[in-house]
Amino acid sequence: MQYFKQHVSELILSSLKELSVPEIPETDDIRKMLEYPPSPENGDLAFPCFRFSKILRKSPAQIASDISQKLPESAYVEKTVAVGGYLNFYLSGSAFLDFTLKDILSNGESYGRSDEGTGKTVVLDYSSPNVAKPFHIGHLGTTVIGHSIKKMHEFFGYKCVGVNHLGDWGTQFGKLIVAYRKFGDEKTVIEKGIDELVRLYVLFHSEAEKDRSLEDLARKEFAKLENGDAENLKLWKWFIEISLAEYKKTYAQLGIEFDSYCGESFYYDKIPAVIERMREKNILKTDDGASIVDLSDYDMPPCLILKSDGTTLYPARDIAAAIYRKETYDFSKCIYVTDAGQSLHFRQWFKVITLMGYDFEKQLVHIPYGKVSIGGEKLATRTGNVILLKDLFKTAVDKVRDIMNEKNPDLPNKEQAAEAVGVGAIVFHYLSGGRIKNIDFTVEDALSFEGNTGPYAQYTYARTCSILEKAGKTAAEAVNAGKYVCSASEEFELIKQLSLFPDKVRSALDAYEPSMITRFIFDTATVFNRFYHNCSVLGAGDRDVINTRLMLTKATGIVLKSAFSLICMKAPEKI
Ligand code: ARG
Repeated sequence: MQYFKQHVSELILSSLKELSVPEIPETDDIRKMLEYPPSPENGDLAFPCFRFSKILRKSPAQIASDISQKLPESAYVEKTVAVGGYLNFYLSGSAFLDFTLKDILSNGESYGRSDEGTGKTVVLDYSSPNVAKPFHIGHLGTTVIGHSIKKMHEFFGYKCVGVNHLGDWGTQFGKLIVAYRKFGDEKTVIEKGIDELVRLYVLFHSEAEKDRSLEDLARKEFAKLENGDAENLKLWKWFIEISLAEYKKTYAQLGIEFDSYCGESFYYDKIPAVIERMREKNILKTDDGASIVDLSDYDMPPCLILKSDGTTLYPARDIAAAIYRKETYDFSKCIYVTDAGQSLHFRQWFKVITLMGYDFEKQLVHIPYGKVSIGGEKLATRTGNVILLKDLFKTAVDKVRDIMNEKNPDLPNKEQAAEAVGVGAIVFHYLSGGRIKNIDFTVEDALSFEGNTGPYAQYTYARTCSILEKAGKTAAEAVNAGKYVCSASEEFELIKQLSLFPDKVRSALDAYEPSMITRFIFDTATVFNRFYHNCSVLGAGDRDVINTRLMLTKATGIVLKSAFSLICMKAPEKI
């Protein structure tokens, strides 16, 4: 629709000039003013005329009708109708379809992309689980929202650096070291991997309830680690390796790769310089032995930098990381995706960046998302109220495999397809609602394949592939057919839907809202299925109509596949 919005804006501009309207807006502004009418009876684009009323001293309705009178002829506009202060444009079906279809087919997977981000780097800090704690449903949000936002930026030409800011430093390592030495052994950890680490971590807490001295011991072991104790460092590295190997399996299922796994520990040796600079700027205060930055002038509690025993705190590591990233990547934006519970933390240390005399606070963006609960209860590792991502994915894939075994037992690459659909179902479900909404997660909801779901969308994509495969040579020839024609309203609705894709990605990126993409996918699948049910493709008779319908099918596949890739959903051709 971008092209048509542009074209219609130019027509309007020319008409406004003819009418000698003072203070004529630029084409770009006119384009932004264009709206999509809520129902097709009101046309395909609507231009609101209210804002000219004052300057022209005429009613908006009169202005709409005047603009319409002076509008230049266009092959793409069938008619215009002035209603209630709007000038409604009805696009000419065939011209619009022919243009847009060729646009999609010739651009293929580049359709909708732009180069607005060329030369700019965006750092995205997401997923970032805490090592040795379970990788659970609470991390699904940051992982898939973060990745989706990264994909959207790449789509618009930004160079993106995905950083997994692993929680690989902190007192939990003291706890784990104590628990491992007291209750664990090497063989079991090697055999069971992260599950054993989680068991030890949980066990530490239940034991510490009975024996308070364990907490002290854990603090001491962590302090030893911070001071470079060789034994503890060795264990710490080993715990990270084991956890990372496990996380990477989950990332592979989602098709996610990170450019950097520099976790919190990476910034440990960069903190003294941060402290130094804070001292120079005179913003570091001592409070009860701890080092803090007072933020009362900004109506926020103090930002905690060092504990009284001198160990570093979470905000300190974030500050060091932001400075390092600015120096290393010279980002135009550094985005952090975490649950809304951390919003204050980010607001606090973003402000500290400015107080330290840096000028890039405005380039730091926190993208919060709603909390996840299970059965109305807060997630809690210690009580076991968590769903591990690997278990969730496994349940989903098992369910899909069962359905496939029953309905499509001879499917080639069944395992891969089951994996793509099972994982896709969960991702799509998670990204269906606005990101800031709290979610009460149930496996049943995530794995219900009715209605607006990932499997429905993937099934629609596979359908486009099978139609084209069946058409064989006819489809290949249709690619170069001279002209595509519009002979049914379903075709027009479908091409209109596909034409919205670039605009939808734009809005989704501006709002950092992947749910706009899932919504678009669902709408596209629905419009395509309506077209497919009402318009026979190969049996259409007329060669131009057959060609058009085949290519509409191909274009739908192209757009769906691109849209899937923006939300970490795979597009198997057969399911
Ligand atoms: N590891 C943290 C957690 O699990 C999230 C880290 C987010 N990124 C950051 N730079 N603080 O809560």
